Amino acid sequence: MRVFVTGASGWIGSGVVPELIGAGHQVVGLARSDASSAVLTAAGAEVHRGTLDDLDSLRSAAAAADGVIHLAFKLDIAFSGGFRAAADADRRAVETFGEALAGSDRPFVIASGTLGLALGRVLTERDGHDPEAVAPLVDGAATRVSTAQMALSLASLDVRSSVVRLPPTVHGEGDHGFVPTLVGIARDKGISGYIGDGSNRWPAVHLLDAAHLIRLALEKAPAGSTLHAIADQGVPIRTIAEVIGRHLDLPVVAISPEDAGEYFGWLTGFLAADSPASSVLTRELMDWHPVQPGLIADLDKGHYFRSK
Ligand SMILES: NC(=O)c1ccc[n+]([C@@H]2O[C@H](COP(=O)([O-])OP(=O)(O)OC[C@H]3O[C@@H](n4cnc5c(N)ncnc54)[C@H](OP(=O)(O)O)[C@@H]3O)[C@@H](O)[C@H]2O)c1
Repeated sequence: MRVFVTGASGWIGSGVVPELIGAGHQVVGLARSDASSAVLTAAGAEVHRGTLDDLDSLRSAAAAADGVIHLAFKLDIAFSGGFRAAADADRRAVETFGEALAGSDRPFVIASGTLGLALGRVLTERDGHDPEAVAPLVDGAATRVSTAQMALSLASLDVRSSVVRLPPTVHGEGDHGFVPTLVGIARDKGISGYIGDGSNRWPAVHLLDAAHLIRLALEKAPAGSTLHAIADQGVPIRTIAEVIGRHLDLPVVAISPEDAGEYFGWLTGFLAADSPASSVLTRELMDWHPVQPGLIADLDKGHYFRSK
């Protein structure tokens, strides 16, 4: 397939592009800068210059492709107070792809998240995309979840749409997400902290396993599927803090919920969530079996601690 991929130059894209090309697909990646274009060219992809806000450009790229994988999200502004604007732009992009692909039976895969959708119990693929559940996390989170709902509803317009829900940590060498942020905070503060008793859990997946599932979704997910790229169902945050403390030779310290905001800043709400998730149904449906190291084994390889 000739596949248009947004976010192809990002972290998840760095796994997805080689996965697609390795399976014989052609990749056309959206790039908003010379630097992103160079990343895509080096990875063997064609470049489509444009931004998430150039809706005509997104429409024409989707119309010329056999399928679309939408990974881009304005994360650069999302976690510095602009989550709502990022979610609104994302919604407009997904609407545009829906219009371009309607009536074509072509695949449309979007990335979304598991965090906060079910608190204190294991989220499964059967759980819907409930905007109200995530609304307390950050302004705009509800919009992001309703966008996933909207993408699934495109199935009724003859789009083979699927949503791949990713855990809060998609780990591997080069990760610049939540876990490296936690490592940075520990370095800055001189302690590796967790909130309360730290028994709350985050699911996780290795980048290469996630990329494999995203390719399978493109190739064969039934229209309207919700898939879970989950390898570790739930790693206690305290266990993550302990590994960080051991590698940085720092004390591992419980932080009270009242003091957590001062220690963890914007990360607090996310880090306090007990948000495990399962992938039993995805494994069965897609014949997907994660083979890469789990989060703790990956942390123990040491690459998260090599550079400041
Ligand atoms: N990483 C995780 O652990 C994780 C967990 C859950 C969900 N997700 C979701 O997975 C998706 C990919 O995340 P990621 O970790 O790969 O993020 P990332 O490394 O920050 O990459 C974001 C991508 O979006 C592109 N982008 C951002 N703003 C853009 C704009 N205005 N116009 C065009 N492209 C733009 C970036 O392009 P540039 O290269 O030009 O910056 C980059 O390719 C996102 O939807 C994210 O929310 C990720």
